[in-house]
Amino acid sequence: MSALIESLKAKRVVPLVQSEDPTTALKISEALLEGGLEVLEVVLRTDAALDCLEAIAKEFPKAHVGAGTVFNAVQSEEVIRRGATFIVSPGLDEPSVEVAQSKNIPILPGVATPSELMRAYNMGLRTVKLFPASVVGGPKMIKALASVARDVGFMPTGGVNPQNLPEYLAVPAVLACGGSWLTPKAEIEAGDFAAITKLAKDAIAIANS
Ligand code: 3PG
Repeated sequence: MSALIESLKAKRVVPLVQSEDPTTALKISEALLEGGLEVLEVVLRTDAALDCLEAIAKEFPKAHVGAGTVFNAVQSEEVIRRGATFIVSPGLDEPSVEVAQSKNIPILPGVATPSELMRAYNMGLRTVKLFPASVVGGPKMIKALASVARDVGFMPTGGVNPQNLPEYLAVPAVLACGGSWLTPKAEIEAGDFAAITKLAKDAIAIANS
């Protein structure tokens, strides 16, 4: 987990990569890495997602290329086979956690309540995603959860944007924020990958300010 944690703490933002085809997914990833990011979450939300994941993991072995929107153990096995070096889920699915743990792959399950946080904690996890962060209480919710689980690091996602990013990152328990704001559909469709590099650079600048 530690190399991933180091990167999360260093870069503080994790873009979602979503594409219908591996060629575009590679261009998106290249633009994000060019902007200085090093942790990418390829979400299983298109038919080509697994192929995109595999292509990115092969092309950028130095980056942390994870799989997101993983719902179950079968998908967990498959994304690891395709090269994912970490797993993110919208919620807490114990069998997915067990698969990841058995293969020493970091997993960040989504939690949205103290009970879910406790279930993740009691499985040995110390890093979770808060989802959907802006709906379940945002930075205040993370402060409240972190007050009872003092050794847990959070990755909030869902409604994070450049405006509220500083508020999230100011919470000591927040390792990094994830989200789709770094990879807008319109820019991808227009082939404007330079815009994605700029968004990545802007996010890093906000994180460093
Ligand atoms: C996720 O899976 O992390 C969320 O869909 C990200 O939410 P966002 O699109 O509001 O950033």
